[in-house]
Amino acid sequence: MEQTYSITVRETGEVFSCGGGQAVLPAMIHAGRGPIKHGCCGGGCGVCRMRIVEGEWEAFKNMSRAHVSEEDEKKGIVLLCCVQPRSNITVARIF
Ligand code: FES
Repeated sequence: MEQTYSITVRETGEVFSCGGGQAVLPAMIHAGRGPIKHGCCGGGCGVCRMRIVEGEWEAFKNMSRAHVSEEDEKKGIVLLCCVQPRSNITVARIF
C-alpha cells in the first residue's frame, strides 16, 4: 500500500495529505489548501515554485531550468508539480 505523508504550508499552518506516488501540487489543489489553486501541473509555467524547508522529496519529472536553477534546487526550491514526498514535508512561499 502506498505511504501517505503530511504536507504543511508554513505560512498558514495548513496541512494536507499526499501519497508517495503523487505529486505535491495536485494533492494541494485537491485538498483546497495552500496558496496555489491552479497551474499547468506539467513543469512549464512556474506557478508552483515554492521552497521545501523540511523533509525529504524526490523530483519525478524534470523541473524547467528556466524556473528552478541547479543552485535553487540545492536550496530546496522546487516546482511542486514535479516532486513527490518521501517523508512529511513543510513547504514555504518564496517572496
Ligand atoms: S504548475 Fe506549472 S510548473 Fe508546476
